Amino acid sequence: MKFEMVLASSLDGVIGQTDEAGIGSMPWKQSNDLKRFQSITKNHLVVYGRNTLESLPWPQGFPQRSNLVLTSKSSIGGVDTYCGELGCEFIRMCRNILIRDKLPPVIYIVGGSIVYAKALAELPISKIHHTIIHAELKTSNSDLAPDFDGFEEVSSEHYCSDDSNMYDYTFVTLEKNNGSETLQRS
Ligand SMILES: NC(=O)c1ccc[n+]([C@@H]2O[C@H](COP(=O)([O-])OP(=O)(O)OC[C@H]3O[C@@H](n4cnc5c(N)ncnc54)[C@H](OP(=O)(O)O)[C@@H]3O)[C@@H](O)[C@H]2O)c1
Repeated sequence: MKFEMVLASSLDGVIGQTDEAGIGSMPWKQSNDLKRFQSITKNHLVVYGRNTLESLPWPQGFPQRSNLVLTSKSSIGGVDTYCGELGCEFIRMCRNILIRDKLPPVIYIVGGSIVYAKALAELPISKIHHTIIHAELKTSNSDLAPDFDGFEEVSSEHYCSDDSNMYDYTFVTLEKNNGSETLQRS
């Protein structure tokens, strides 16, 4: 079982913005990023925070995927939820959902800011599917990307803006850099 992360951020680290009512959104329209998200995560288990759920147009989460929402609320109708450390109990719950829903053993962490940071600190994330949106978008309402310390770029594809993609963008794949481990062993 592997944990990977999918996120898009602007050049200045913005992943989204939260309005006065506490509802999040992404400050861009990038059709090809949505298609990339769809193709990576479709028919898999996706894990994300309650704020991200509330920013979606689907109250029961992303369609055509199994959804596990992190929240301290006792339940959210129609969605699996989890509260607590992202340790053994969380991994056990993910495994049970994979078995129940007959899914492949790759679990995607898909946001938002709070959950990305917790996942990088607490889970063995092996890969990050990052879309860089080539714009500077930071405001006082911005939700920010985490640092990708310990990861290295293994591929990157650059594209120009067009009618369906507001800004130029780069699809980057990063993998966990085991350099420090090697250093300790040598
Ligand atoms: N650009 C991208 O790729 C991308 C992707 C996804 C989201 N976003 C954006 O990110 C923003 C939302 O991010 P956010 O940081 O505000 O919120 P979030 O990470 O989506 O959700 C945070 C909430 O998750 C719950 N939570 C987190 N860890 C938990 C744990 N271990 N146990 C129990 N509950 C836990 C808590 O909910 P409770 O309060 O219920 O306890 C917490 O308030 C939005 O602007 C959205 O558009 C961007």
